[in-house]
Amino acid sequence: MNGSTHDDVLARLRELQTGDLPVHGGRTLAYVYDSGLAEVDRIGREAVATYAASNGLDPTSFPSLLTMENELVGFACDLLSAPDTAVGSVTSGGTESVLLAVQGARDSRPDLTSPSMVVPSTVHAAFLKAAHYFGVSARVVPVGSDFRADVAATAAAIDDSTVLVVGSAPSYAHGVIDPIASLASLAGGRGIRCHVDACIGGWVLPYAERLGRPVPPWSFAVEGVTSISVDTHKYGYAPKGTSLLLHRTAELRMPQYFASADWPGYTMLNSTMQSTKSGGPLAGAWAVVQHLGDEGYLELATAVFDAVDRIVAGVPEGLSVVVPPDSTLVALATDDTCDAFTVCDEMRERGWYVQPQMSYAGAPPTIHLSVSAATLTSVDDLLADLAASVAAARTAGPVEVPRGVRDFIEALDPAALTDEDFDGLLAASGLLSDPTAGLALPDRMAPVNAMLDIASPALRESLLIAFLDRLQRPLRG
Ligand SMILES: Cc1ncc(COP(=O)(O)O)c(C=O)c1O
Repeated sequence: MNGSTHDDVLARLRELQTGDLPVHGGRTLAYVYDSGLAEVDRIGREAVATYAASNGLDPTSFPSLLTMENELVGFACDLLSAPDTAVGSVTSGGTESVLLAVQGARDSRPDLTSPSMVVPSTVHAAFLKAAHYFGVSARVVPVGSDFRADVAATAAAIDDSTVLVVGSAPSYAHGVIDPIASLASLAGGRGIRCHVDACIGGWVLPYAERLGRPVPPWSFAVEGVTSISVDTHKYGYAPKGTSLLLHRTAELRMPQYFASADWPGYTMLNSTMQSTKSGGPLAGAWAVVQHLGDEGYLELATAVFDAVDRIVAGVPEGLSVVVPPDSTLVALATDDTCDAFTVCDEMRERGWYVQPQMSYAGAPPTIHLSVSAATLTSVDDLLADLAASVAAARTAGPVEVPRGVRDFIEALDPAALTDEDFDGLLAASGLLSDPTAGLALPDRMAPVNAMLDIASPALRESLLIAFLDRLQRPLRG
């Protein structure tokens, strides 16, 4: 063995990790969900480690994983007011749950050559990915002025090719719940599946209801809802790598299964997209749910909603809440004295991560906050730092995209972006001053975000793909 020692490898891991966002402390308000309870993290991590090498591919060989999956789904059934007929599967994350909901809907209608689904424009991009992967055309319906799905427009978009109608509980960008009862009734009336994307809300809204908060109907209690996605790696406060996809009946889940005996090896039999899958994430989620239980989640929900209410009530001058949140996600708009991207950078300087959201469909950029239970203890600091960030952004003034860069961007064709185009943009924007040094992430993202913001969504996609392609290059010995 000529590799590094255990201590050296772990030291290097720790060193690498210092460049990442913190996953504890409640100051990272996107990507991570922090209970603030050290014991919860410890149990999750130990369970992941215990099961890291176990394979969820074959439940007869690893029956403990099947037991954990069924117990986890059982817990979720109670949360989501599922009927006794409900079934579910554990997936690797929200996107996989969404992909499977769309794939299942498509494959339940083999008679259709051009299946479609109707989604509000605020639906998570995972549905657009599903459309792309599975050849289901997404009929994207603009939302109303309240950022919720427009029921009449949804009705008008449904036709004989529709295999799925989708609503969110809540939507990621604005944090509001779509009118699920109306959407489900539209779909149900025509025998069409209706999926509720509760990847964010599924594990926290039931507790909001118990706390007496007003929550519009969104679960299986709503007739016509056929499936729900809910992520344990979000407000289940479990380690990354699990989500659940629940169906109202076993029959609805059937098209999700894949089996192939038509080769010389073992019969492949899968309920989700992965085949071999680590038992770690499932064990981690199961362990955290066992440990917290209903009471633990109720306490965490009390904390997170307390934090949300205090943030909404205390948003400093210069910022405003885009729409009162139905759940734990808050979108903030800036007034015309400061720009959202600079506020995000200034927050980063102060030890916070808040997420910039680009302008879309005529609406200006916003700032996204996924609030965690752990944020509660530092809400006052958060509000003070937001105020300081607004002041700093005002002093810095708006981020201007230089005329030359703007012209360059406007001349780009997203469908035919070349390496040379991308190099040209990097050079014009000063992002790659030394072409031999490779791409490095700038400290301040506002100039980059401002550039992306003037690009169309299609061009933004092409530019970011070119960017990621440049980042993902092998580092060889
Ligand atoms: C509403 C919603 N659906 C789906 C997803 C996708 O989940 P994941 O990132 O776990 O794949 C997210 C992620 O934030 C989400 O907010």
